[in-house]
Amino acid sequence: MTSEPARVPVDATTTPAWGSLTELSANLVPDLRGWFAADPDRAGRFTHQAADLHVDLSKNLVTDEVLAALLALADEVGLVARRDAMFAGEHINVTEDRAVLHTALRRPSDQPLTVDDQDVSADVADELAKVYAFAEKVRSGEWTGVTGEPVRTIVNIGIGGSDLGPVMAYEALEPYVQDGLEVRFVSNIDPTDVAQKTADLDPTTTLFIVASKTFGTLETLTNARLARDWLWRSLVAAGAIEDSEEGRSDAVAKHFVAVSTALDKVAAFGIDPANAFGFWDWVGGRYSVDSAIGTSLAVAIGPDAFADFLAGFHAMDEHFRTAPLDENVPVLMGLLNVWYTNFRDAHTHAVLPYAQQLHRFPAYLQQLTMESNGKSVRWDGTPVTTGTGEVFWGEPGTNGQHAFYQLIHQGTRLIPADFIAVANPAYPLADAVGDGGAVEAGADVHGLFLANFFAQTKALAFGKTADEVRAEGVAEELVSAKVFSGNRPTTSILAPALTPSVLGQLVALYEHITFVQGVVWGIDSFDQWGVELGKKLALEIAPAVAGDEAALAAQDPSTAALIARYRELRA
Ligand code: F6P
Repeated sequence: MTSEPARVPVDATTTPAWGSLTELSANLVPDLRGWFAADPDRAGRFTHQAADLHVDLSKNLVTDEVLAALLALADEVGLVARRDAMFAGEHINVTEDRAVLHTALRRPSDQPLTVDDQDVSADVADELAKVYAFAEKVRSGEWTGVTGEPVRTIVNIGIGGSDLGPVMAYEALEPYVQDGLEVRFVSNIDPTDVAQKTADLDPTTTLFIVASKTFGTLETLTNARLARDWLWRSLVAAGAIEDSEEGRSDAVAKHFVAVSTALDKVAAFGIDPANAFGFWDWVGGRYSVDSAIGTSLAVAIGPDAFADFLAGFHAMDEHFRTAPLDENVPVLMGLLNVWYTNFRDAHTHAVLPYAQQLHRFPAYLQQLTMESNGKSVRWDGTPVTTGTGEVFWGEPGTNGQHAFYQLIHQGTRLIPADFIAVANPAYPLADAVGDGGAVEAGADVHGLFLANFFAQTKALAFGKTADEVRAEGVAEELVSAKVFSGNRPTTSILAPALTPSVLGQLVALYEHITFVQGVVWGIDSFDQWGVELGKKLALEIAPAVAGDEAALAAQDPSTAALIARYRELRA
């Protein structure tokens, strides 16, 4: 039995907890050195386990009082009721009047769930079975192109959630990819993208997956047409098909499949609906990597690994659904983000994976978090009452260290940062020779890598005082430049290895962090109206760019002048 979600969001700023947090913040003098000295158990008390993730929150700028007030805030805004409403399939995406059920995509099939009179679990299991059967056919070589050759390259054509999740996960799980198979991703409507990704491909061994929830996205459909045209031209040039209607439709049947919620539009494009995989309007694009949108990944890593990926999501869902709030990692991390955004004037949040395979994770999180929580109105249409969505950004360590960490260590802005690492690398290498100094012969390079993770979070937390700098014999005029203030907050996340399950856990963790923040702010984290205006204007402007004088004259002076200049330069 779940409680009804609140139709009108609680204004968090009117709660007693908000008042306490305001007061606590006004009186807080961050002192991680002092807090650790006074409480030897701080690291232990602030560290939690969520599925396989070991999460150390102790280097955050919070005291027990602050954490208690944050948890009281969660209570006062009705977080638990809204979480339960999401899991139960209530229409918490109110502006689109939809359920929000990405959690159903990874629910074990023996746990039925009926939503809007539909057996959601059965639907998910059926579609997943289709995706797995297709994946097996491609992997085994049973699926062949027009010349009978098996598939060697899959090109996923999609954008936003139909690209960022699959590409991030493909890169992260590269060691699990079947030998001889490669997946490429085309997303940008810049024709360079499709041109570069197809340049060296053999059309007879290439399979395109057109992934689009709506199957109406300009970029994806344009790229799909370009890819189809490339396929036809190159197959004809190779003598693999006749240059005829029949030859072309045979090529599409054997070299194109689709993933969409709009199967009628898939058919209109010329793809046989039998070669299409569906999902549902209750899966948001940025929450869809674990739906059929992940078909390219399922082919690459295989059904067993994909099932592990889903199991990882589910393990984190269960943690979020059942762990007490004061041990609930997504809840705590979401509340910490609220603390920094609304009480400590942080505007951005860095995500710094110490795992090269997670190099696209920050980009993935940008859509997840910023398309979800970059809102100025609440779910009842009234203005938000406080700051919302931070700018998420990041690069893998240690590359970031040699680029922007200067600002995190010594800049004037507070940048909470999540450090993410795995204990066991996919490619354990030893430095056979060493450098004759700090790096000994035989040194485990991953150990050196993680020494950087631990060093950075330590330096950010505890800094270096002027006296410590002076004690090193630094000239007085350089002392201030070499001081590190410390008290720069970080969260450390450690996992045993980057398995499919761990990746699923990480993604679900951030999905739920995003949800928690959205609930506190009273916003609908599942719509994205802010992307619509630019899309519409692009369609209106396209004729002006193509030479229509009336369309050009209809533009504002700046836009008209830019288009005119573009046309001159292009000519
Ligand atoms: O424009 C934003 C957006 O709607 C995202 O929310 C979505 O992930 C992306 O476009 C792609 O949409 P589709 O999968 O329908 O092509």
